[in-house]
Amino acid sequence: ARITLRQLLDHAAEHEYGVPAFNLNNMEQGLAIMAAADATDSPVILQASRGARAYANDIVLAKLIDGLVEIYPHIPVCMHLDHGNNEATCATAIQYGFTSVMMDGSLKADGKTPADYNYNVEITQNVTKMAHWAGVSVEGELGVLGSLESGQGEAEDGHGAEGTLSHDQLLTDPEEAVKFVQATKVDALAVAMGTSHGAYKFTRQPDGDVLAMNVIEEIHRRLPTTHLVMHGSSSVPQDLQDIINQYGGQMKPTWGVPVEEIQRGIKHGVRKINIDTDNRMAMTGQIRKVLTENPSEFDPRKYLKPAMDAMTKLCKQRFEEFNTAGQG
Ligand code: G3H
Ligand code: 13P
Ligand code: NA
Ligand code: ZN
Repeated sequence: ARITLRQLLDHAAEHEYGVPAFNLNNMEQGLAIMAAADATDSPVILQASRGARAYANDIVLAKLIDGLVEIYPHIPVCMHLDHGNNEATCATAIQYGFTSVMMDGSLKADGKTPADYNYNVEITQNVTKMAHWAGVSVEGELGVLGSLESGQGEAEDGHGAEGTLSHDQLLTDPEEAVKFVQATKVDALAVAMGTSHGAYKFTRQPDGDVLAMNVIEEIHRRLPTTHLVMHGSSSVPQDLQDIINQYGGQMKPTWGVPVEEIQRGIKHGVRKINIDTDNRMAMTGQIRKVLTENPSEFDPRKYLKPAMDAMTKLCKQRFEEFNTAGQG
């Protein structure tokens, strides 16, 4: 059954677990995530970006979610808009049956220019007012995602960068977080502490200088009942890099967010953990493998099924690691 983000994260806080929010763009990813949720008895957050909505078509996406909920009526499903950029994007997501929206006012509507605090408060307030009328939850974001190593902030699509940002912009200010949550009434708050979207987060195993988990602890001390969200939380596992490179891919050496750091976050108020890149890598590795080993193969099911299975395996692992398993 469909539930809101607020309902799900309240339960997660009460029972001290985290919930992975997996991005989906198509049927294969939807089926793979739900198979993992079913196998581990987990509630699940499915999230679609603006890019996913454009790729799949809003109508197809809405009917896909209907289908997934109908196949697995016993699984609590939150359908969330990832990185909404303005009021209209959030409003249309609600029309299509999303039970939660993210208004990312840390960036202007272009998705790459850092916005000032007042802009963020105003646009997020507009969305919470509307969404709460409709019984839909809202995630806000304070602080710009980006690398503390390079000072590169990033576009919400993970592809562009908007100059060099200061540590102040790349780390959520705990005092400001208190004001922001009070002013906007968001149900969950995404914070910036050194993670970024995509595979290239860190050039070495991250330590506290580049992955500032202490910022999360500080915010949780001041906002003990606010549900915190970690974006850019793929772990970019070495074995998935290896499979891709073994079968003709060209990924440069890179590090993601260690699962132990996420588990530490879950002890300090982190309830929603956004993961897209790990699943992209899991699928791509298998597609490369099948096509390399069977160059005469041209039935998409022959490579999409192993891709789905690899994604299900990854999702099951995260459900177990975040203690979501058994909470469905
Ligand atoms: O925010 C980043 C997510 O991984 C979604 O990426 O905008 O390419 O769909 P996307
Ligand atoms: P990753 O690129 O680390 O998977 O992050 C996804 C994300 O934050 C989606 O909002
Ligand atoms: Na989101
Ligand atoms: Zn994100």
